[in-house]
Amino acid sequence: MDYLPDLTDKVAIVTGGGKGIGRAIAFGLAEAGCKVIIAARTESEIQTAADDITSRGGQAMAKVTDLTRNEDIQELVETAVTAFGRIDILINNAARSFFRPLLDLREDGFDKIFDTNVKAVFLLGRACAKVMMKQGGGRIVNITTVGAERGGIMMGAYHASKAALKMLTMCMACEWASLNILVNAVGPGMTRTHFSEPIWANPEIERQLVARIPQGRLAETDDIVGSVLFLCSDAAKFITGQSIYVDGGTLANT
Ligand SMILES: NC(=O)c1ccc[n+]([C@@H]2O[C@H](COP(=O)([O-])OP(=O)(O)OC[C@H]3O[C@@H](n4cnc5c(N)ncnc54)[C@H](OP(=O)(O)O)[C@@H]3O)[C@@H](O)[C@H]2O)c1
Repeated sequence: MDYLPDLTDKVAIVTGGGKGIGRAIAFGLAEAGCKVIIAARTESEIQTAADDITSRGGQAMAKVTDLTRNEDIQELVETAVTAFGRIDILINNAARSFFRPLLDLREDGFDKIFDTNVKAVFLLGRACAKVMMKQGGGRIVNITTVGAERGGIMMGAYHASKAALKMLTMCMACEWASLNILVNAVGPGMTRTHFSEPIWANPEIERQLVARIPQGRLAETDDIVGSVLFLCSDAAKFITGQSIYVDGGTLANT
């Protein structure tokens, strides 16, 4: 990692940290010195991520969590506090989408998107904030997307959920600033992960996408990590309620 603030002995939860952007963030936080709890539904992926961090000398544990279940969310927070005694950082990275026009998106599909991308952030953010306030503060970074700022086809409910998450970030920031809990968002542009593969796997579509990105390429997962680490660092101690877009200039170009 090029940029590595000192986060020694901070305790961080990363949701959706078994693969993609979340895995890269979990590795970055561990490299910066954090003890990391990785939460998602697929045990094999989060256990492998935790084992890989441990084998490189870091500290990590996996906790199977379905973020659409409030019982799981409360258990995740209890597990983190029992294992490491505190929670300093929460990265709300897990998300859900369906690649489908709004006319065809099922009602339960819409609910799954909003339950994962918005409601879970409210429930987990609040549960962690109750721990952080007793400790004198903490940091929360919500992973949004450039799609929070502009419309598009095939992922309408996802865009709407991320726009809601951007506003939830701002409201959490306003309510919790006095508790020294700083809440910001990082919005990636198109990033090469399993999540976005249906889009970039088609070379013609990838070519069209890249043509609209001033820096001339899609993001790789490591591109997203520095901004997250920065927002968790001392250098960001007077920043709250902001969204940083890590998009190679995509939004500047629209
Ligand atoms: N890739 C992109 O182009 C792109 C662009 C902009 C923003 N983003 C954002 O970046 C974040 C990470 O995306 P990614 O591309 O890395 O996606 P990904 O590889 O598909 O990872 C998504 C993660 O979310 C977890 N997850 C989904 N539903 C969950 C649930 N109910 N409970 C717990 N965990 C759940 C998944 O784990 P399980 O399935 O095992 O639960 C998975 O680990 C998301 O917030 C996404 O919106 C991505």
